[in-house]
Amino acid sequence: MKAIIVHGGAGRHRGGRFREKLDVLREAASRGFETLKKGGDSVRACEEAIKCLEDSPLFNAGTGSVLTLDGRCEMDASIMRGDTYEIGAVAGVERVKNPISLAIKVMEETDHVLLMGEGAMKFARLMGFEEYDPITEERRRQWEELKKEFLEGKETPWNRIRSLIKRYPELLAGTVGCVAIDDRGVIAAGSSTGGVFLKLFGRVGDTPIPGAGIYATPHAGATATGIGEGIIRTGLSRTACSFIRSGISPMKAAEAAIDLVDNTVKTSAGVIAIDAQGNVGFAYNTRAMPIAFMKDGMDSPETGGVPPDEM
Ligand code: GLY
Repeated sequence: MKAIIVHGGAGRHRGGRFREKLDVLREAASRGFETLKKGGDSVRACEEAIKCLEDSPLFNAGTGSVLTLDGRCEMDASIMRGDTYEIGAVAGVERVKNPISLAIKVMEETDHVLLMGEGAMKFARLMGFEEYDPITEERRRQWEELKKEFLEGKETPWNRIRSLIKRYPELLAGTVGCVAIDDRGVIAAGSSTGGVFLKLFGRVGDTPIPGAGIYATPHAGATATGIGEGIIRTGLSRTACSFIRSGISPMKAAEAAIDLVDNTVKTSAGVIAIDAQGNVGFAYNTRAMPIAFMKDGMDSPETGGVPPDEM
């Protein structure tokens, strides 16, 4: 049973552009599913789908990633395959077009799990990844506004994160992720993000941390979105996979994993998941988490995760 599910980030998504986002998510799910139909494995399907989302400036990943406190773009990405428990991840990479492809290179070309910063970028150039500036004019403008307020003392981003996010819901917009299962039953999970606006330089979120931002086993795969610190503290993706292994559906597992976040760290979060039968699930505690999924027997992707008043 082939299946794929993608998300465009858990958050308020105020200012919406949901139709555009759903169009790109549908395209990403279709491209990933096409890869599966042509015999590509679930890792390649995740790569195709996530590249599509990274290349859209609507999402906080690749092109359109948000900026650090000092105005740089430090991106994180990861991939995990469930049959072998292999993982590849990169943290704090700049000037790379598709961090997900770099994470896959770490998994397939090295003996390591996670490369960071300058070392990861040196590895990128060795692997033939060209210099690319992912910072868009819109993100630069948003950063200038936020930074000005920050310097005026109106907000400090990390000890008052809740009030900051309430005022600037776009801070959370758009980490991207994908979980897929191929015809051989191999499940893969991948994720890519610019992190969170005004994060301290060097801050690494959940995305490249196995168990937190991604996890995959022979039985289940999941990927998370939201405030990385809370996701790391609850091991959100691995938690969702464990719930699926205990016998509940991916939908109920995703909901139970988000309940855990609500009952413990109480941060904004969302998770998507797939089981070994190709059933999909998703849950979030934010206003929205646009998703698209497709599986055998479907002609086109289905979407969800958008507030009804926005459609
Ligand atoms: N979930 C994205 C981050 O916190 O970096």
